[in-house]
Amino acid sequence: MSALAGGQAVEVVALSRTFDLCRIFESNADVALRVVRPDEVVDPARVEIALAWMPEERAFDAYPNLKMVSSIAAGVDSILACPSLPKDVVVTRVRDHAQADLMAGFAAWQVVWHHRRMGDYITNQARRSWDRSFRPQAPGSVTVGVLGYGLMGRRCAMAIAAMGFRVLVARSSVPTTPEAPLDGIEIIAGPGAILSVAAEADILVNVLPLTDTTRDLLDGNFFAQMKPGAALVQMGRGEHMVEADLIEALDGGQLAGASVDVFRQEPPAEDHPFWSHPRIMVTPHKASDTTPAEILRQVTENFSALREGRLPPGLVNREAGY
Ligand code: GLV
Repeated sequence: MSALAGGQAVEVVALSRTFDLCRIFESNADVALRVVRPDEVVDPARVEIALAWMPEERAFDAYPNLKMVSSIAAGVDSILACPSLPKDVVVTRVRDHAQADLMAGFAAWQVVWHHRRMGDYITNQARRSWDRSFRPQAPGSVTVGVLGYGLMGRRCAMAIAAMGFRVLVARSSVPTTPEAPLDGIEIIAGPGAILSVAAEADILVNVLPLTDTTRDLLDGNFFAQMKPGAALVQMGRGEHMVEADLIEALDGGQLAGASVDVFRQEPPAEDHPFWSHPRIMVTPHKASDTTPAEILRQVTENFSALREGRLPPGLVNREAGY
């Protein structure tokens, strides 16, 4: 059954303080990996793989022979930030094209939402008001900025460009070999790229990974450099944004609206101001999802590669943070 252990399922320890990972993965018990809770591990010294999401601070201490820590998602910020993560362990993340397509659909939907002022129609419907006065600009004269150019950013940019918008992407790394241009997408690369794109965007989509450089990026100073009347689609990580500064930017008229899918604390408290703000659309960290079966398939693939001395396809650059 298992390509990993010559017929015996490999034990994978589940380390999360927010999710019961064993429950999430229990219906996939027929695959080569057996996901177990720390208290079910027979011999911690034999555990080579951990599946993690928001691990406890000392979560990794008990496993002296860990080889690979796999995120259950595309993001790895909570794993890399964990103080007990061993220095030499390989970290992998999910790279799922279907998830990237979901992300792209969400981004495209929110871009259209702001472009066509859907919030106004909802208000008008509640008042039974047949108001046809709003005339949207042609998509070609609307600039949509996308922050991030990994698997997710690329798919978002392509989906938005396919609707005719002008798409401007910020990527932090300058490609070392020339890349074929993508139709309708302009790329700005390098350290100043994020602010240059933000300054030109009518609608700005954030899909950056959370790193020391991007934490608290979306603050009052950043919003002040955006185009007056622009909209923000925040689908990166909650810690990218100083939440009080978004309220100020909206209430002060600098920004016209925002869609927020990720929060500093999830779920946000019942009295969090975003819930009731008339210019914010709140969604519960659902811009995209992958499946337990796909996660385990990728863990198997990554670990097989590691054992055979190949680069795991989901390998994370620990220094870069993604
Ligand atoms: C979701 O937040 C992910 O990191 O995939």
